[in-house]
Amino acid sequence: DQIYTGVDVGGTSIKLGICDRQGNLLHTFEGPTGTDGGPQVVLQNIVTYVRQLVDQSAYSWEQVAGIGIGFPGFMDMKNGIVKFAPNLRWENVPVKDVLEQELRKPVKINNDANIAALGEAWAGAGKGVDDLVMLTLGTGVGGGIITGGKIQEGHNGMAGELGHIQIVPDLEAIKCGCGQKGCVETVSSATGIVKMALDALERGEKTMLSMHEDITAKAVLDAAREGDEVARRIVNRAGYYLGRTMSILALVLNPKRFIIGGGVSKAGDILFDPIREAFAQYTPPSSQEGVDIVPAELGNNAGVVGAAGLHIRG
Ligand code: BGC
Ligand code: NA
Ligand code: ZN
Repeated sequence: DQIYTGVDVGGTSIKLGICDRQGNLLHTFEGPTGTDGGPQVVLQNIVTYVRQLVDQSAYSWEQVAGIGIGFPGFMDMKNGIVKFAPNLRWENVPVKDVLEQELRKPVKINNDANIAALGEAWAGAGKGVDDLVMLTLGTGVGGGIITGGKIQEGHNGMAGELGHIQIVPDLEAIKCGCGQKGCVETVSSATGIVKMALDALERGEKTMLSMHEDITAKAVLDAAREGDEVARRIVNRAGYYLGRTMSILALVLNPKRFIIGGGVSKAGDILFDPIREAFAQYTPPSSQEGVDIVPAELGNNAGVVGAAGLHIRG
């Protein structure tokens, strides 16, 4: 039988998986991205890992019908180019031709959050839902819009760059990796949460976070759950601006479901409460009706499943 391989390129690791036509994940592999080496090294790593993934599995290279790959940036799918990846610091990197030449299989590329959305829609928290919005909270804030079961790509591929919606008022806004300021990514990503914690520590605020050598988003979320005031304020702020962003999205897109994914989304109510509160407060009742806000189901695998799905559902 034919199989499809999905690749999810992140800032620190590249995740890969083999799926069948139904979206069942059959085999996985993971390796370091090698971001410091620049695009050439990363592309070479993708090629190596795809071969290793298949070699180590029960499937043969001949069975691979297509390879789907998600990159964390603004994508020009038509021309096979990563236009701008703020957190990798890539600009105008042609990826599709190079990878197709090396792998000699059909390659489809897309945005990392778009494929996560497709994965969840296909086999996760969005099963059976035709219109949904996915938000991934990691190094950046990614967005994926599924309408009528398909990824919305926009006129040149860059629809769903939801992390760069500017929602934080100028007076409090800080600079984003995209060059603008006040993007929701600056407060609701894992990176943003860590940055707010470091700022609070620098101001000398009293918090149990001062006992940590290395502040992670998880440490901030845990401290918030334990009642730490400073951590609470930070997590509330992350949730508040995400909820306000979702309110705009509800008005524009009227999705049935919002799916929140990425490492930070495992936090549970401590994060979901302020998200739901802000969404409820800022969204007209008619636009809230029947809309649900749920955590992702596929966890770290949403991206690889969706990437494989590009050849089947894309
Ligand atoms: C990028 C998006 C990406 C997101 C998550 C953002 O900074 O602009 O393209 O989906 O990070 O990786
Ligand atoms: Na996107
Ligand atoms: Zn931005």
